[in-house]
Amino acid sequence: MATIASPEVDIDHDIQGSPLELPDFSAESYKDAYSRINAIVIEGEKEAYDNYISIGNLIPENAAELKKLAVMEMKHMRGFTACGKNLGVKADMPFAKKFFSKLHGNFQEAFSKGNITTCLLIQAILIEAFAISAYNVYIRVADPFAKKITEGVVKDEYLHLNYGQEWLKANLDTCKEELIQANKENLPLIKSMLDQVATDAEILHMDKEELMEEFMIAYQDSLVEMGLDNRQIARMALAAVV
Ligand SMILES: [Fe+2]
Ligand SMILES: [Fe+2]
Repeated sequence: MATIASPEVDIDHDIQGSPLELPDFSAESYKDAYSRINAIVIEGEKEAYDNYISIGNLIPENAAELKKLAVMEMKHMRGFTACGKNLGVKADMPFAKKFFSKLHGNFQEAFSKGNITTCLLIQAILIEAFAISAYNVYIRVADPFAKKITEGVVKDEYLHLNYGQEWLKANLDTCKEELIQANKENLPLIKSMLDQVATDAEILHMDKEELMEEFMIAYQDSLVEMGLDNRQIARMALAAVV
């Protein structure tokens, strides 16, 4: 089975090779931005748990494996909750619920219709690639406690992305049309979620362009692994900019 490995992340330098400057983790402005980013991460992990349990209902033969992925998400949620507590930050959960509401609604609609392809695209490809990009960038500028937790988490997220990728690869002949359509509807949401979080991310020293680059790498690599050709991948990726 072809898998995308977690890359070695250079944690001391930015993408241009300059030494990274860590933020002041005790500054009020840092804590304020962290209250929203931390909430998004906690909510994202909770939704991921729910989504893998739901997908297990749609693919009963994989339910045990999907339960294992879901349990990892719950563990991630607890880890990130501890990161907020460690900094003395209260996560802004109402903000995070709103942040995920459109994607959440689209997943629920696909689930109610039994659209496995759309569910997997939303959770296992788009959300996982989003998480991978955010965590890889965050690891470089996180406080020591959060860095250790995030390093463990990001390894799991690659496993989750691989699960979705391999299912879609095995079923590509019958799911390609739905995949492209679902991508057209949901990739722009990921882009707008990234835009919404950019100002807060910047305060955490997470660069928006780097986030987008990391996302595109994980996302496009998974499309390659699924067996899509260059033109199809370019068309799918363009949905982020139109
Ligand atoms: Fe996770
Ligand atoms: Fe995950």
